[in-house]
Amino acid sequence: MNTSRRITIFDTTLRDGEQSPGASMNIKEKLEVAHALVSLGVDVIEAGFPIASPGDFEAVREIARQVHGATICGLARCNPADIDRAWEALQEAPKARIHVFLATSAIHREFKLRMGKDEIIQRAVAGVQRAASYCGDIEFSPEDAARTEVDFLCQVVEAAIDAGATTVNIPDTVGYATPSHMASVIRTLRERVPNIEQAVISIHCHNDLGLAVANSLAAVEAGAGQIECTINGIGERAGNCALEEVVMALRVRNDVYHADTGIISQRLVPTSRLVSNITGIQVQRNKAIVGRNAFAHEAGIHQDGYLKERTTYEIMRPEDVGFLKTDLVLGKHSGRAALADRAKSLGYQLTEDQLQTVFEKFKELADKKKEIYDSDLAVLIEQQIREIPRQWEFLGYEVSVATGDVPEVTVRVRRGDEEVSHTNHGGDGPIDAVFLALEEATGVHVVCKDFQVHSVSVGKDAQGEVTVEVDYHGQSYRGRGVSTDTVEASAIAFLDAINRVAMVADGPSKKSTPPAATP
Ligand code: KIV
Ligand code: ZN
Repeated sequence: MNTSRRITIFDTTLRDGEQSPGASMNIKEKLEVAHALVSLGVDVIEAGFPIASPGDFEAVREIARQVHGATICGLARCNPADIDRAWEALQEAPKARIHVFLATSAIHREFKLRMGKDEIIQRAVAGVQRAASYCGDIEFSPEDAARTEVDFLCQVVEAAIDAGATTVNIPDTVGYATPSHMASVIRTLRERVPNIEQAVISIHCHNDLGLAVANSLAAVEAGAGQIECTINGIGERAGNCALEEVVMALRVRNDVYHADTGIISQRLVPTSRLVSNITGIQVQRNKAIVGRNAFAHEAGIHQDGYLKERTTYEIMRPEDVGFLKTDLVLGKHSGRAALADRAKSLGYQLTEDQLQTVFEKFKELADKKKEIYDSDLAVLIEQQIREIPRQWEFLGYEVSVATGDVPEVTVRVRRGDEEVSHTNHGGDGPIDAVFLALEEATGVHVVCKDFQVHSVSVGKDAQGEVTVEVDYHGQSYRGRGVSTDTVEASAIAFLDAINRVAMVADGPSKKSTPPAATP
Protein backbone atom coordinates (compact mmCIF):
# COMPACT_ATOMS: atom_id res chain seq x y z
CA MET A 1 0.00 0.00 0.00
CA ASN A 2 1.33 3.44 -0.93
CA THR A 3 1.17 5.70 2.11
CA SER A 4 2.88 8.66 0.47
CA ARG A 5 1.70 12.13 1.40
CA ARG A 6 1.11 14.32 -1.64
CA ILE A 7 3.35 17.40 -1.46
CA THR A 8 2.32 20.53 -3.36
CA ILE A 9 5.02 21.88 -5.67
CA PHE A 10 4.98 25.67 -5.83
CA ASP A 11 7.31 26.86 -8.56
CA THR A 12 8.70 30.38 -8.29
CA THR A 13 11.10 30.34 -11.27
CA LEU A 14 9.18 33.23 -12.82
CA ARG A 15 9.26 35.36 -9.66
CA ASP A 16 12.12 34.54 -7.24
CA GLY A 17 14.05 32.79 -10.05
CA GLU A 18 13.76 35.84 -12.26
CA GLN A 19 15.45 37.83 -9.49
CA SER A 20 18.77 36.13 -10.43
CA PRO A 21 21.03 38.81 -11.85
CA GLY A 22 20.54 38.98 -15.62
CA ALA A 23 17.75 36.41 -15.69
CA SER A 24 14.92 38.69 -16.72
CA MET A 25 12.57 37.18 -19.28
CA ASN A 26 10.14 38.84 -21.64
CA ILE A 27 6.43 38.01 -21.64
CA LYS A 28 6.69 35.50 -24.47
CA GLU A 29 9.49 33.67 -22.70
CA LYS A 30 7.58 33.68 -19.40
CA LEU A 31 4.55 32.20 -21.13
CA GLU A 32 6.71 29.49 -22.64
CA VAL A 33 8.19 28.63 -19.24
CA ALA A 34 4.72 28.67 -17.64
CA HIS A 35 3.39 26.21 -20.24
CA ALA A 36 6.44 23.99 -19.65
CA LEU A 37 5.80 24.08 -15.89
CA VAL A 38 2.25 22.85 -16.45
CA SER A 39 3.56 19.99 -18.62
CA LEU A 40 6.03 19.21 -15.85
CA GLY A 41 3.14 18.85 -13.40
CA VAL A 42 3.75 21.68 -10.93
CA ASP A 43 0.73 22.58 -8.79
CA VAL A 44 1.25 26.33 -8.35
CA ILE A 45 3.11 28.77 -10.59
CA GLU A 46 4.19 32.03 -8.99
CA ALA A 47 4.09 34.11 -12.14
CA GLY A 48 5.46 37.39 -10.82
CA PHE A 49 5.10 40.43 -8.59
CA PRO A 50 2.47 42.48 -10.44
CA ILE A 51 3.14 45.83 -8.78
CA ALA A 52 6.90 45.63 -9.51
CA SER A 53 6.59 46.89 -13.10
CA PRO A 54 4.14 47.13 -16.00
CA GLY A 55 6.04 44.20 -17.58
CA ASP A 56 5.56 42.02 -14.49
CA PHE A 57 1.86 42.92 -14.39
CA GLU A 58 1.36 42.06 -18.06
CA ALA A 59 3.22 38.77 -17.70
CA VAL A 60 1.11 37.67 -14.72
CA ARG A 61 -2.09 38.73 -16.49
CA GLU A 62 -1.21 36.85 -19.70
CA ILE A 63 -0.19 33.73 -17.78
CA ALA A 64 -3.45 33.91 -15.78
CA ARG A 65 -5.40 34.18 -19.05
CA GLN A 66 -3.56 31.62 -21.11
CA VAL A 67 -1.95 29.02 -18.86
CA HIS A 68 -4.41 26.55 -17.41
CA GLY A 69 -3.71 23.36 -15.48
CA ALA A 70 -2.01 24.90 -12.44
CA THR A 71 -2.93 27.55 -9.87
CA ILE A 72 -1.48 30.92 -10.91
CA CYS A 73 -0.12 33.00 -8.07
CA GLY A 74 0.94 36.66 -7.82
CA LEU A 75 3.03 38.23 -5.06
CA ALA A 76 2.04 41.31 -3.07
CA ARG A 77 3.28 43.13 0.00
CA CYS A 78 0.76 43.65 2.79
CA ASN A 79 -0.63 46.89 1.45
CA PRO A 80 -3.82 47.67 -0.46
CA ALA A 81 -2.16 48.90 -3.66
CA ASP A 82 -0.05 45.75 -4.05
CA ILE A 83 -2.94 43.41 -3.29
CA ASP A 84 -5.38 45.19 -5.62
CA ARG A 85 -2.82 45.15 -8.41
CA ALA A 86 -2.10 41.46 -7.85
CA TRP A 87 -5.80 40.63 -8.10
CA GLU A 88 -6.21 42.79 -11.20
CA ALA A 89 -3.53 40.66 -12.86
CA LEU A 90 -4.84 37.32 -11.59
CA GLN A 91 -8.59 37.61 -11.84
CA GLU A 92 -8.97 35.77 -15.15
CA ALA A 93 -7.13 32.66 -13.96
CA PRO A 94 -9.39 29.64 -13.49
CA LYS A 95 -7.44 28.96 -10.27
CA ALA A 96 -5.77 31.99 -8.67
CA ARG A 97 -3.78 32.55 -5.49
CA ILE A 98 -2.65 35.82 -3.92
CA HIS A 99 0.61 35.54 -1.99
CA VAL A 100 1.04 38.31 0.60
CA PHE A 101 4.20 38.77 2.61
CA LEU A 102 5.53 40.90 5.44
CA ALA A 103 8.84 40.60 7.26
CA THR A 104 8.67 39.46 10.87
CA SER A 105 12.26 39.03 12.15
CA ALA A 106 13.64 41.50 14.70
CA ILE A 107 16.29 42.69 12.27
CA HIS A 108 13.71 43.46 9.54
CA ARG A 109 11.23 44.97 12.02
CA GLU A 110 13.83 47.31 13.44
CA PHE A 111 15.88 48.33 10.43
CA LYS A 112 13.70 47.81 7.36
CA LEU A 113 10.13 48.33 8.49
CA ARG A 114 10.59 50.30 11.73
CA MET A 115 7.49 48.62 13.14
CA GLY A 116 6.71 46.97 16.44
CA LYS A 117 5.31 43.47 16.81
CA ASP A 118 1.69 44.64 17.23
CA GLU A 119 1.79 46.69 14.07
CA ILE A 120 3.26 43.74 12.15
CA ILE A 121 0.36 41.54 13.25
CA GLN A 122 -2.21 44.22 12.38
CA ARG A 123 -0.73 44.74 8.92
CA ALA A 124 -0.46 41.02 8.24
CA VAL A 125 -4.10 40.51 9.22
CA ALA A 126 -5.30 43.46 7.16
CA GLY A 127 -3.29 42.24 4.15
CA VAL A 128 -4.63 38.70 4.36
CA GLN A 129 -8.20 39.95 4.84
CA ARG A 130 -8.02 42.24 1.85
CA ALA A 131 -6.61 39.44 -0.31
CA ALA A 132 -9.27 37.05 0.99
CA SER A 133 -11.96 39.51 -0.09
CA TYR A 134 -10.86 38.75 -3.67
CA CYS A 135 -10.21 35.02 -3.68
CA GLY A 136 -10.31 31.95 -1.49
CA ASP A 137 -6.73 30.79 -2.02
CA ILE A 138 -4.42 33.00 0.07
CA GLU A 139 -0.81 32.38 1.00
CA PHE A 140 0.88 34.38 3.73
CA SER A 141 4.67 34.56 4.18
CA PRO A 142 6.35 36.01 7.26
CA GLU A 143 9.51 37.08 5.44
CA ASP A 144 12.75 36.06 7.19
CA ALA A 145 10.74 33.55 9.26
CA ALA A 146 13.84 31.44 9.91
CA ARG A 147 15.35 34.34 11.90
CA THR A 148 12.09 35.31 13.62
CA GLU A 149 11.62 34.60 17.35
CA VAL A 150 9.62 31.39 17.31
CA ASP A 151 6.98 32.63 19.81
CA PHE A 152 6.27 35.66 17.67
CA LEU A 153 6.24 33.52 14.53
CA CYS A 154 3.54 31.33 16.12
CA GLN A 155 1.45 34.43 16.92
CA VAL A 156 1.75 35.86 13.40
CA VAL A 157 0.91 32.53 11.78
CA GLU A 158 -2.13 32.03 13.99
CA ALA A 159 -3.41 35.54 13.23
CA ALA A 160 -2.84 35.09 9.48
CA ILE A 161 -4.79 31.82 9.45
CA ASP A 162 -7.61 33.42 11.44
CA ALA A 163 -7.68 36.22 8.87
CA GLY A 164 -8.12 33.74 6.01
CA ALA A 165 -4.68 32.40 4.96
CA THR A 166 -5.01 28.92 3.49
CA THR A 167 -1.25 28.38 3.13
CA VAL A 168 1.37 29.67 5.55
CA ASN A 169 4.79 29.77 4.02
CA ILE A 170 7.95 29.74 6.15
CA PRO A 171 10.74 31.49 4.23
CA ASP A 172 14.40 31.17 5.03
CA THR A 173 14.91 34.42 3.16
CA VAL A 174 18.68 34.68 3.69
CA GLY A 175 19.56 30.97 3.61
CA TYR A 176 20.60 30.93 7.27
CA ALA A 177 18.74 27.86 8.54
CA THR A 178 20.05 24.33 9.00
CA PRO A 179 17.97 21.17 8.53
CA SER A 180 17.46 20.53 12.26
CA HIS A 181 16.51 24.18 12.85
CA MET A 182 14.00 24.15 9.99
CA ALA A 183 12.45 20.91 11.19
CA SER A 184 12.12 22.26 14.70
CA VAL A 185 10.37 25.45 13.46
CA ILE A 186 7.81 23.39 11.54
CA ARG A 187 7.25 21.03 14.47
CA THR A 188 6.78 23.97 16.85
CA LEU A 189 4.20 25.56 14.56
CA ARG A 190 2.30 22.28 14.39
CA GLU A 191 2.39 21.86 18.16
CA ARG A 192 1.69 25.40 19.26
CA VAL A 193 -0.53 27.11 16.69
CA PRO A 194 -4.07 26.06 17.55
CA ASN A 195 -5.58 26.60 14.06
CA ILE A 196 -2.60 25.22 12.09
CA GLU A 197 -4.68 22.36 10.66
CA GLN A 198 -6.75 24.91 8.72
CA ALA A 199 -3.75 25.79 6.51
CA VAL A 200 -1.04 24.05 4.55
CA ILE A 201 2.46 24.69 5.89
CA SER A 202 4.85 25.62 3.11
CA ILE A 203 8.63 25.95 3.03
CA HIS A 204 10.71 28.44 1.00
CA CYS A 205 14.49 28.07 1.32
CA HIS A 206 17.34 30.07 -0.14
CA ASN A 207 20.67 28.45 -0.81
CA ASP A 208 23.26 30.76 0.74
CA LEU A 209 24.84 27.90 2.71
CA GLY A 210 24.06 25.30 0.05
CA LEU A 211 21.34 23.87 2.32
CA ALA A 212 18.13 24.87 0.52
CA VAL A 213 17.21 21.35 -0.60
CA ALA A 214 18.25 19.72 2.69
CA ASN A 215 16.26 22.31 4.67
CA SER A 216 13.17 21.82 2.51
CA LEU A 217 13.36 18.04 2.94
CA ALA A 218 13.74 18.42 6.70
CA ALA A 219 10.63 20.63 6.71
CA VAL A 220 8.69 17.97 4.80
CA GLU A 221 9.79 15.32 7.29
CA ALA A 222 8.50 17.59 10.05
CA GLY A 223 5.11 17.98 8.34
CA ALA A 224 5.29 20.72 5.69
CA GLY A 225 2.89 20.08 2.81
CA GLN A 226 4.20 22.49 0.17
CA ILE A 227 7.70 23.17 -1.17
CA GLU A 228 8.62 26.39 -2.96
CA CYS A 229 11.37 25.91 -5.50
CA THR A 230 12.77 26.93 -8.88
CA ILE A 231 14.02 25.11 -11.95
CA ASN A 232 17.81 24.66 -11.76
CA GLY A 233 17.65 26.34 -8.35
CA ILE A 234 17.95 29.81 -9.90
CA GLY A 235 17.10 32.81 -7.78
CA GLU A 236 18.28 35.74 -5.72
CA ARG A 237 22.01 35.43 -4.73
CA ALA A 238 22.88 31.70 -4.38
CA GLY A 239 19.39 30.79 -5.54
CA ASN A 240 16.41 28.84 -4.23
CA CYS A 241 15.70 25.20 -3.52
CA ALA A 242 16.17 23.31 -6.82
CA LEU A 243 12.90 21.72 -7.94
CA GLU A 244 14.53 18.80 -9.73
CA GLU A 245 16.67 17.88 -6.70
CA VAL A 246 13.97 18.09 -4.06
CA VAL A 247 11.47 16.19 -6.21
CA MET A 248 13.88 13.36 -7.01
CA ALA A 249 15.03 13.15 -3.39
CA LEU A 250 11.42 12.62 -2.32
CA ARG A 251 10.93 10.02 -5.03
CA VAL A 252 14.16 8.07 -4.70
CA ARG A 253 14.08 8.17 -0.87
CA ASN A 254 10.37 7.57 -0.46
CA ASP A 255 11.37 5.08 2.24
CA VAL A 256 12.52 8.04 4.35
CA TYR A 257 10.06 10.79 3.46
CA HIS A 258 6.89 8.82 2.63
CA ALA A 259 5.95 11.71 0.41
CA ASP A 260 5.71 12.33 -3.34
CA THR A 261 4.70 15.03 -5.81
CA GLY A 262 2.76 15.21 -9.07
CA ILE A 263 5.90 16.00 -11.06
CA ILE A 264 6.40 14.09 -14.31
CA SER A 265 10.06 13.42 -13.77
CA GLN A 266 10.80 12.70 -17.45
CA ARG A 267 10.11 16.39 -18.11
CA LEU A 268 12.85 17.56 -15.71
CA VAL A 269 15.75 17.68 -18.17
CA PRO A 270 13.79 19.34 -21.02
CA THR A 271 12.40 21.96 -18.60
CA SER A 272 15.85 22.57 -17.14
CA ARG A 273 17.24 23.10 -20.66
CA LEU A 274 14.42 25.45 -21.56
CA VAL A 275 14.98 27.64 -18.50
CA SER A 276 18.73 27.63 -19.04
CA ASN A 277 18.33 28.61 -22.70
CA ILE A 278 15.86 31.37 -21.96
CA THR A 279 17.71 32.90 -19.01
CA GLY A 280 21.23 32.28 -20.34
CA ILE A 281 22.15 30.78 -16.94
CA GLN A 282 24.17 27.65 -17.63
CA VAL A 283 23.61 24.50 -15.62
CA GLN A 284 26.90 23.39 -14.09
CA ARG A 285 28.06 20.04 -15.49
CA ASN A 286 28.07 18.26 -12.14
CA LYS A 287 24.68 19.63 -11.08
CA ALA A 288 22.60 16.87 -9.47
CA ILE A 289 19.82 15.38 -11.64
CA VAL A 290 20.05 17.67 -14.70
CA GLY A 291 23.80 18.39 -15.10
CA ARG A 292 25.45 16.94 -18.18
CA ASN A 293 27.68 14.71 -16.02
CA ALA A 294 24.97 13.66 -13.56
CA PHE A 295 24.95 10.14 -15.03
CA ALA A 296 28.46 9.95 -16.53
CA HIS A 297 30.65 7.18 -15.15
CA GLU A 298 34.33 7.95 -15.64
CA ALA A 299 36.33 5.68 -13.31
CA GLY A 300 37.05 2.26 -14.81
CA ILE A 301 35.95 0.48 -11.67
CA HIS A 302 32.61 2.28 -11.79
CA GLN A 303 32.12 1.54 -15.47
CA ASP A 304 32.88 -2.12 -14.87
CA GLY A 305 30.40 -2.36 -11.99
CA TYR A 306 27.76 -0.40 -13.91
CA LEU A 307 28.02 -2.69 -16.92
CA LYS A 308 27.63 -5.76 -14.72
CA GLU A 309 24.66 -4.32 -12.82
CA ARG A 310 23.41 -0.74 -13.32
CA THR A 311 22.35 -0.28 -9.68
CA THR A 312 25.92 -0.75 -8.43
CA TYR A 313 26.60 2.89 -9.27
CA GLU A 314 23.24 4.40 -10.24
CA ILE A 315 20.41 5.27 -7.85
CA MET A 316 18.02 6.41 -10.58
CA ARG A 317 17.84 5.90 -14.32
CA PRO A 318 18.83 8.80 -16.60
CA GLU A 319 15.67 8.25 -18.64
CA ASP A 320 13.56 8.74 -15.49
CA VAL A 321 14.63 12.38 -15.35
CA GLY A 322 14.42 12.96 -19.09
CA PHE A 323 17.87 12.10 -20.44
CA LEU A 324 17.66 9.95 -23.54
CA LYS A 325 19.06 6.44 -23.33
CA THR A 326 21.48 7.04 -26.18
CA ASP A 327 23.01 10.11 -27.73
CA LEU A 328 22.13 9.00 -31.26
CA VAL A 329 24.07 10.65 -34.01
CA LEU A 330 22.42 12.07 -37.10
CA GLY A 331 24.31 13.12 -40.21
CA LYS A 332 24.02 14.63 -43.65
CA HIS A 333 22.15 11.62 -44.99
CA SER A 334 19.56 11.43 -42.24
CA GLY A 335 16.08 12.16 -43.52
CA ARG A 336 13.18 14.24 -42.27
CA ALA A 337 11.52 11.25 -40.59
CA ALA A 338 14.65 10.45 -38.53
CA LEU A 339 14.92 14.09 -37.52
CA ALA A 340 11.23 14.30 -36.58
CA ASP A 341 11.53 11.14 -34.54
CA ARG A 342 14.59 12.39 -32.71
CA ALA A 343 13.01 15.79 -32.01
CA LYS A 344 9.99 14.03 -30.54
CA SER A 345 12.14 11.91 -28.23
CA LEU A 346 13.89 15.07 -27.10
CA GLY A 347 10.49 16.37 -26.01
CA TYR A 348 9.76 18.85 -28.85
CA GLN A 349 6.34 18.90 -30.50
CA LEU A 350 7.11 20.56 -33.83
CA THR A 351 4.48 21.79 -36.26
CA GLU A 352 4.95 20.84 -39.96
CA ASP A 353 6.31 24.34 -40.68
CA GLN A 354 8.71 24.24 -37.77
CA LEU A 355 9.90 20.78 -38.79
CA GLN A 356 10.57 22.04 -42.31
CA THR A 357 12.65 25.01 -41.07
CA VAL A 358 14.51 22.84 -38.56
CA PHE A 359 15.21 20.31 -41.32
CA GLU A 360 16.67 23.00 -43.61
CA LYS A 361 18.89 24.34 -40.80
CA PHE A 362 19.87 20.78 -39.91
CA LYS A 363 21.09 20.19 -43.48
CA GLU A 364 23.08 23.44 -43.39
CA LEU A 365 24.69 22.38 -40.12
CA ALA A 366 25.37 18.88 -41.44
CA ASP A 367 27.43 20.45 -44.23
CA LYS A 368 29.68 22.11 -41.64
CA LYS A 369 29.75 19.31 -39.10
CA LYS A 370 29.94 15.58 -39.77
CA GLU A 371 27.98 14.27 -36.81
CA ILE A 372 24.99 15.96 -35.25
CA TYR A 373 24.35 14.96 -31.64
CA ASP A 374 21.20 15.37 -29.57
CA SER A 375 22.68 18.44 -27.90
CA ASP A 376 23.31 20.03 -31.34
CA LEU A 377 19.79 19.22 -32.38
CA ALA A 378 18.27 20.63 -29.20
CA VAL A 379 20.11 23.93 -29.72
CA LEU A 380 19.06 24.06 -33.35
CA ILE A 381 15.40 23.43 -32.52
CA GLU A 382 15.42 25.99 -29.71
CA GLN A 383 16.79 28.61 -32.11
CA GLN A 384 14.05 27.97 -34.63
CA ILE A 385 11.05 27.65 -32.36
CA ARG A 386 11.82 30.46 -29.98
CA GLU A 387 11.48 33.67 -31.86
CA ILE A 388 13.05 36.36 -29.69
CA PRO A 389 11.83 39.80 -30.69
CA ARG A 390 15.02 41.41 -31.92
CA GLN A 391 15.74 44.90 -33.10
CA TRP A 392 19.13 44.03 -34.49
CA GLU A 393 19.98 41.02 -36.59
CA PHE A 394 23.57 39.87 -37.08
CA LEU A 395 24.55 39.59 -40.75
CA GLY A 396 28.28 38.88 -40.65
CA TYR A 397 31.80 40.00 -39.82
CA GLU A 398 35.25 40.26 -41.35
CA VAL A 399 38.34 40.41 -39.23
CA SER A 400 42.00 40.83 -39.92
CA VAL A 401 44.35 40.11 -37.07
CA ALA A 402 47.81 38.74 -36.37
CA THR A 403 49.55 37.94 -33.08
CA GLY A 404 50.56 41.19 -31.40
CA ASP A 405 48.64 43.37 -33.90
CA VAL A 406 45.60 45.51 -33.18
CA PRO A 407 42.70 43.83 -35.01
CA GLU A 408 40.61 45.44 -37.69
CA VAL A 409 37.06 44.29 -37.86
CA THR A 410 33.94 45.07 -39.85
CA VAL A 411 30.52 43.98 -38.62
CA ARG A 412 27.24 44.09 -40.49
CA VAL A 413 23.89 44.25 -38.70
CA ARG A 414 20.31 44.96 -39.78
CA ARG A 415 17.48 46.77 -38.04
CA GLY A 416 14.23 46.59 -40.03
CA ASP A 417 15.16 47.68 -43.55
CA GLU A 418 18.28 49.54 -42.45
CA GLU A 419 21.61 47.76 -42.88
CA VAL A 420 24.53 49.12 -40.86
CA SER A 421 28.16 48.29 -41.35
CA HIS A 422 30.85 49.48 -38.97
CA THR A 423 34.61 49.10 -39.17
CA ASN A 424 36.67 49.32 -36.03
CA HIS A 425 40.40 49.32 -35.38
CA GLY A 426 41.02 48.33 -31.77
CA GLY A 427 40.39 45.74 -29.12
CA ASP A 428 42.44 43.03 -27.46
CA GLY A 429 41.71 40.33 -30.00
CA PRO A 430 39.10 39.42 -32.59
CA ILE A 431 36.26 38.87 -30.09
CA ASP A 432 36.85 42.11 -28.20
CA ALA A 433 37.12 43.93 -31.54
CA VAL A 434 33.79 42.47 -32.73
CA PHE A 435 32.12 43.54 -29.48
CA LEU A 436 33.43 47.10 -29.81
CA ALA A 437 32.28 47.30 -33.42
CA LEU A 438 28.81 45.99 -32.49
CA GLU A 439 28.49 48.65 -29.79
CA GLU A 440 29.34 51.34 -32.35
CA ALA A 441 27.04 49.90 -34.99
CA THR A 442 24.03 49.72 -32.66
CA GLY A 443 24.79 52.77 -30.50
CA VAL A 444 24.23 50.65 -27.36
CA HIS A 445 27.25 50.78 -25.06
CA VAL A 446 27.48 48.15 -22.32
CA VAL A 447 30.08 46.70 -19.96
CA CYS A 448 30.83 43.03 -20.55
CA LYS A 449 30.89 41.30 -17.15
CA ASP A 450 31.08 37.65 -18.11
CA PHE A 451 31.98 35.70 -21.21
CA GLN A 452 31.92 31.91 -21.47
CA VAL A 453 32.39 29.41 -24.27
CA HIS A 454 31.26 25.79 -24.05
CA SER A 455 31.20 23.14 -26.68
CA VAL A 456 27.68 21.94 -27.44
CA SER A 457 28.78 18.39 -28.26
CA VAL A 458 32.12 16.66 -28.91
CA GLY A 459 34.89 16.79 -31.53
CA LYS A 460 36.96 19.62 -32.94
CA ASP A 461 34.16 20.60 -35.29
CA ALA A 462 31.77 20.95 -32.31
CA GLN A 463 29.54 23.99 -32.17
CA GLY A 464 30.64 26.62 -29.67
CA GLU A 465 27.98 28.00 -27.37
CA VAL A 466 28.83 31.46 -26.06
CA THR A 467 27.04 33.16 -23.18
CA VAL A 468 27.73 36.75 -22.21
CA GLU A 469 26.51 38.90 -19.37
CA VAL A 470 26.60 42.66 -19.82
CA ASP A 471 25.80 45.57 -17.56
CA TYR A 472 23.72 48.48 -18.81
CA HIS A 473 23.00 51.25 -16.30
CA GLY A 474 23.40 48.90 -13.34
CA GLN A 475 21.12 46.18 -14.73
CA SER A 476 22.43 42.82 -16.02
CA TYR A 477 21.44 41.31 -19.35
CA ARG A 478 22.44 37.97 -20.82
CA GLY A 479 22.91 36.82 -24.38
CA ARG A 480 23.61 33.52 -26.04
CA GLY A 481 24.91 32.48 -29.45
CA VAL A 482 25.79 29.19 -31.10
CA SER A 483 27.88 28.52 -34.18
CA THR A 484 30.67 26.28 -35.42
CA ASP A 485 32.67 29.55 -35.62
CA THR A 486 33.39 30.85 -32.09
CA VAL A 487 33.84 34.49 -33.17
CA GLU A 488 30.46 34.38 -34.89
CA ALA A 489 28.86 32.70 -31.81
CA SER A 490 30.36 35.48 -29.66
CA ALA A 491 28.98 38.18 -31.95
CA ILE A 492 25.50 36.61 -31.91
CA ALA A 493 25.57 36.30 -28.11
CA PHE A 494 26.70 39.91 -27.65
CA LEU A 495 24.05 41.19 -30.06
CA ASP A 496 21.45 39.05 -28.26
CA ALA A 497 22.33 40.86 -25.01
CA ILE A 498 22.16 44.24 -26.81
CA ASN A 499 18.72 43.30 -28.16
CA ARG A 500 17.56 42.54 -24.62
CA VAL A 501 18.84 45.93 -23.47
CA ALA A 502 17.03 47.61 -26.38
CA MET A 503 13.83 45.70 -25.64
CA VAL A 504 13.75 46.71 -21.97
CA ALA A 505 14.78 50.29 -22.69
CA ASP A 506 11.93 50.67 -25.24
CA GLY A 507 9.31 48.15 -24.24
CA PRO A 508 6.54 47.80 -21.68
CA SER A 509 8.49 45.32 -19.56
CA LYS A 510 10.78 48.08 -18.30
CA LYS A 511 11.51 47.20 -14.66
CA SER A 512 10.86 49.89 -12.12
CA THR A 513 11.68 48.75 -8.62
CA PRO A 514 8.57 49.04 -6.49
CA PRO A 515 8.56 51.64 -3.71
CA ALA A 516 10.28 49.39 -1.16
CA ALA A 517 12.77 46.55 -1.54
CA THR A 518 11.71 43.48 -3.50
CA PRO A 519 11.78 40.32 -1.35
O1 KIV B 1 12.68 34.75 0.30
C1 KIV B 1 11.61 35.25 0.66
O2 KIV B 1 11.40 35.58 1.84
C2 KIV B 1 10.58 35.43 -0.35
C3 KIV B 1 9.19 35.69 0.16
C4 KIV B 1 8.46 36.68 -0.64
C5 KIV B 1 8.44 34.39 0.20
O3 KIV B 1 10.83 35.28 -1.52
ZN1 ZN C 1 12.66 34.02 -1.74
